[in-house]
Amino acid sequence: MTQRVTVADLVAMKRRGERIVMVTAYDYPTARLADEAGIPVILVGDSLGNTVLGYETTIPVTLSDMLHHTRAVTRAVRRALVVADMPFLTFQVTPEEALRNAGRLVQEGGAQAVKVEGGGPVVETVARLVRAGIPVMGHLGLTPQSVHALGGYRVQARSVAAIRQLFADALALEEAGAFAIVLELIPAPVARAVSEVVQVPTIGIGAGPGCDGQVQVLTDLLGLTPGPLPRHARAYADLAGIVSEALRRYAEDVRNGAFPGEAESFGLPRDLDAETVEAIAQEYRARREGGRDARGSDCG
Ligand code: KIV
Repeated sequence: MTQRVTVADLVAMKRRGERIVMVTAYDYPTARLADEAGIPVILVGDSLGNTVLGYETTIPVTLSDMLHHTRAVTRAVRRALVVADMPFLTFQVTPEEALRNAGRLVQEGGAQAVKVEGGGPVVETVARLVRAGIPVMGHLGLTPQSVHALGGYRVQARSVAAIRQLFADALALEEAGAFAIVLELIPAPVARAVSEVVQVPTIGIGAGPGCDGQVQVLTDLLGLTPGPLPRHARAYADLAGIVSEALRRYAEDVRNGAFPGEAESFGLPRDLDAETVEAIAQEYRARREGGRDARGSDCG
């Protein structure tokens, strides 16, 4: 049986100086490929709002959206630790409500952990979930659910006060029991320093190479994101180009009769021949003609 990656494995990887790889996934086929590629952490990010559901932000994503996609991912994954994002307003109201919602992502969604965005205001909630046995990943820096308050998708921690706040939040999350912390859009030297101070792994996105691990949004990584990539992302394939070309060729083959060919078609069973089929067709052709004549005479 395949051994599931655990939160303890990730902390041990940090201690050994082994970089942690995380990627987002939102559906069965890509989650399966990520797992088979040996990626140890798969995040069902609420970025599914932008990447898959066509929203402009992650704010419209609901718990039921997250459950639907988390189930698809966990049905595919055998080895990786699956972390499900808690969407906007499912964890900010009260720790008890957050516990109920996180519990659904674990119990109904099959995730092994959840992720919550933010520092100070969510620390009590993180502690509550951890006490209930739910592993929690934190998320600091650019927290997309607060995009309107932050005034856009901008690099964070760019003043002494903001850097101090980031350190304080990271340590508070660690103390509350978070097993890892995503650092998003943070100057590389700041993220490196935070990663050295906290004992739990940091997973960076737009936070430079000094983090303990890296996460990329799958559609950016595969070249499926429409328009220009965010500066922090790197595409390792051009799937949009491959998919467009495949669809164009398929449409052309259907239009010119090249698809389906013999290889994609089924012949008659041995005990039937083309004459029998033709005889049946004749019979029905005649019936249809007869019906037409009858309707014609009714009308006439
Ligand atoms: O939702 C998401 O994909 C995320 C990553 C960017 C860390 O939170």
